[in-house]
Amino acid sequence: MRDIIGAMLITPKRDNLNKIVILNPKGGCGKSTLATNIAACYARRGPQPAIMDYDPQGSTTAWLRRRPSELPAIHGIAAYKKSMHATRSWQLRVPDDTVNLIVDSPASISHDDLRELTRDSSSILVPVLPSSMDIDAASKCIADLLLVAKVNRNEGKLAVIANRTRKNTRSLGRLMRFLDSLGIPIVAVLRDSQNFIHAAENGVGLHEMQPSRVRADVEQIEKIVNWLDGWEARRKRALHITGIRRQPFSRIPMLRKPQVRSV
Ligand SMILES: Nc1ncnc2c1ncn2[C@@H]1O[C@H](COP(=O)(O)OP(=O)(O)OP(=O)(O)O)[C@@H](O)[C@H]1O
Ligand SMILES: [Mg+2]
Repeated sequence: MRDIIGAMLITPKRDNLNKIVILNPKGGCGKSTLATNIAACYARRGPQPAIMDYDPQGSTTAWLRRRPSELPAIHGIAAYKKSMHATRSWQLRVPDDTVNLIVDSPASISHDDLRELTRDSSSILVPVLPSSMDIDAASKCIADLLLVAKVNRNEGKLAVIANRTRKNTRSLGRLMRFLDSLGIPIVAVLRDSQNFIHAAENGVGLHEMQPSRVRADVEQIEKIVNWLDGWEARRKRALHITGIRRQPFSRIPMLRKPQVRSV
């Protein structure tokens, strides 16, 4: 498999950093849609979140460029770009006052990249479309997370988002049974709606659109953010139950304050 991210990937490590990784090697399942909507929610609440974009298509970076300047700012890190003029760690630096870091991953990643991306993550979200082919791909993705990236299910940091669903379809039922058998929660069910497409086109999150139009969708995004907010409690519980320890703190590249720039 292609090594898109490459051996030079440097993942920020900081004990108080809420690193949310959104991944599923299946293309078009809603990774960037989820990343942008979660980031917009955190931006509204503050402090300013950061999005790290590993996808060579640069979808979240382009969304940030389209974002109206009057809306709460989000710090963008175009991790897919490799600069000749800066070290990789400088390129991937995270502002030191960032609390929430959202990582958007590319389609089809190698096992090494999977391990790198998920290292030090506090939550991993896997968006899944409810078609047979997508469910098969998601099963493989979840198996790789458990067996290759060694994500421990007891840590409770892995969850699925059912995306672009239509009510009561057989495939949605099948997806739910499959996840139930693994003990992995579906924290939200997003419907197939033009609202997501409009939000993406305009550089906004759903909750920044006309409320009467997006109420049902915003409710689901809020469910996701509520679940993400429980990351420290989940980690403490896992530590208590299984004795899982985080890797020791190590230095990460920090951004000096005057140089913080929002895209
Ligand atoms: N719930 C939804 N309803 C309608 N359209 C959606 C929904 N979720 C995502 N989309 C649309 O589906 C397309 C693919 O979504 P997105 O780019 O988020 O997927 P992705 O997993 O990031 O894709 P890639 O693997 O290529 O990076 C986009 O046009 C997006 O606007
Ligand atoms: Mg994408």
